[in-house]
Amino acid sequence: MPINEFCPQIGKAEILSVLETLEDNWVTEGKKTKQLEGMLADYFGCKRVVMVPNGTLALFAALKVLGIGPGDEVIVPDFTFFASASAVVLTGAKPVLVDVDELDGNISVAAARASLSDRTKAIMPVHIYGQSCDMQAVMELARCHGLLVVEDAAQGMGVTFGDKHVGTFGDIGCMSFFADKTLTTGEGGALLVNDEELARRCVYFKNQGRLRRGTFVHEHMGYNFRITDLQAAIGVAQFERIAQTIRHKRSLCAAYARRLSGCPGVRWPADNGFGQAVPFRVNILVDDPEGLARFLADRDIAVRRFFYPLHLQPSLNAANCVVRQQPVNSVRLFEAGLMLPSGLDLAETEVDYVCACILEYQRAHAADARGAGTRDASSRLSRAVCRSL
Ligand SMILES: Cc1ncc(COP(=O)(O)O)c(C=O)c1O
Repeated sequence: MPINEFCPQIGKAEILSVLETLEDNWVTEGKKTKQLEGMLADYFGCKRVVMVPNGTLALFAALKVLGIGPGDEVIVPDFTFFASASAVVLTGAKPVLVDVDELDGNISVAAARASLSDRTKAIMPVHIYGQSCDMQAVMELARCHGLLVVEDAAQGMGVTFGDKHVGTFGDIGCMSFFADKTLTTGEGGALLVNDEELARRCVYFKNQGRLRRGTFVHEHMGYNFRITDLQAAIGVAQFERIAQTIRHKRSLCAAYARRLSGCPGVRWPADNGFGQAVPFRVNILVDDPEGLARFLADRDIAVRRFFYPLHLQPSLNAANCVVRQQPVNSVRLFEAGLMLPSGLDLAETEVDYVCACILEYQRAHAADARGAGTRDASSRLSRAVCRSL
């Protein structure tokens, strides 16, 4: 049996929840969506959660509602999923790509500061791979320079900075509930807002310029960014076991760390210590991720490389984005990173098998077997994992 890179956990609770919604004969956005929005607002500790169709459109809607458009620049980290930048491009503004911290892959506030211009209107910290950005430094920079803050917390379910959930620091936080996220609705996203007036503007934007349906009078410009109660029904069932899902993710990471401790040339992304981390996937750093990926693929094990730096993306160029300082750390991370199979349905024997294959490859190929586990970033994730257990 091939070992998948990831698959969502859909069980009886999700099926029953969707069935209940179908039996209610309510398939568009309605009471299940309201229920999920309420549950999420309590969990995140923010005033309002507004569901939208996906994380990309959450970012786009947030930027639009905050008035970002042509002629504006938005600071975006170079090491993130493509959507962080494409959402900015869709508004007509330009993403300004800045380097990240090599240890945790999150935005470098120093690099952001160095790339500001008169046109910079906003900054988009992206909480990458399950760890918070340094939100104190980001918010300070934003305050000093009058920037709006749109947090990309697409991967941040359960992640905190201090004791506050990511996505609740800036003007608007954006979540994704795509199939590979810690909580999924299949496709889905949300806007996290702490200001009632801003929340109303988000609702106008997503609901054809009205606060409620049933009227053909549209007070503001708006569109259809609604979801369906069928998706929300999945989300409600997923939410009810969110603590268990997060525990499971952490223990999977710890299981890998135990088996790979001392594996030549395997390093771990660092724990930045900002708050509660929730591993997005089980990530390792090696000298030859492509070679190891091929070796594992030949053994029916699916893995994935890290994000390809945005400034190297064929579709992003001088016409639609800005690079004022050449990013270096995003390239280093891409050149070393590998995501291991991280599905919560993985059996212990499968984790054993994946680790045995990695050990076999690394013992034969690691450039500096003696250096294993000694680089500064290496041992810190193990500590993070243990701390989280
Ligand atoms: C950091 C980040 N931002 C934005 C998105 C976009 O979310 P969606 O796939 O729901 O559109 C993703 C999705 O994986 C992501 O990882």
